[in-house]
Amino acid sequence: MSVSGRSFFFRFNAYLYTMSSHPIGIFDSGYGGLTVFRSIAALLPQYDYIYLGDNARAPYGNRSYETVHQYTLECVEWFFKMNCPLVILACNTASAKALRTIQQVDLPRIAPNNRVLGVIRPTAEMIGSYTDTNSVGVLGTRGTINSGSYEIEISKFFPEVSVHSLACPMWVPLVEYGEYNTDGADFFVGKYLQQLLAAAPDIDTILLACTHYPLLADKIKKHLPQGVKAISQGPIVADSLAEYLQRHPETELQLSKTGDVRFYTTDDTADFDNHASVFFGEKVRSTHLRLGHI
Ligand code: DGL
Repeated sequence: MSVSGRSFFFRFNAYLYTMSSHPIGIFDSGYGGLTVFRSIAALLPQYDYIYLGDNARAPYGNRSYETVHQYTLECVEWFFKMNCPLVILACNTASAKALRTIQQVDLPRIAPNNRVLGVIRPTAEMIGSYTDTNSVGVLGTRGTINSGSYEIEISKFFPEVSVHSLACPMWVPLVEYGEYNTDGADFFVGKYLQQLLAAAPDIDTILLACTHYPLLADKIKKHLPQGVKAISQGPIVADSLAEYLQRHPETELQLSKTGDVRFYTTDDTADFDNHASVFFGEKVRSTHLRLGHI
């Protein structure tokens, strides 16, 4: 077969594969969602997955509602083109600022049978069961904290729990730029934790309400007084997805189950692969995705 014939053959096979597979889409502004995806893939390895990090436009944390909605929707529409019947926004900022509009306004218009889920509600449903003092700290990006989403959602499930929130705007850049093991990271981790605990000394549970923060977990633990625990969302979201799929056979039956995992990034693939392997705990090989406007 000629070279051009072979290349057509491979592209045609890739096209056929894409058309026959119905993966779960996992989305984040960058690397953070990989901490959630890692737990999901460990608990539910039978499904096919596509992970997309919008690294070219990360971080989302300080961006407006309109921008976060526009960026997230573009990515969700791409997942739908890739045949994903179900997309998880493994990003608190996108869950806080874009999910509701996507579920209520966009989905009925563009794909009424597809589903998009976030990470805030499943976490809010569980977090009250970790605290003995009924006092929980929530750390996240400015976008997540200013949205008040955690206060609203936690009060629905645990009205007796008081929620003390603090934005940690330096933490995502530390992680995105690979500085999470440095003295600089120590300084900023200590700074925000002291601020939170000084404002509410009875806190015994701190929710890491940003999917980037588990990369700082060792430093966070080092700065926490005894008896105060930090909770990452990955295992909570994975359990909640497993339950969701049990309760929704109409979605579950659409999903393909060959254990195939693919990674896409809107930025440089070599950079993504290096960093992503740390977040995901396994070697990652990504494909570049060019969204229309980038
Ligand atoms: N990982 C995202 C989250 O959970 C935030 C990262 C960003 O600011 O883009 O909120």
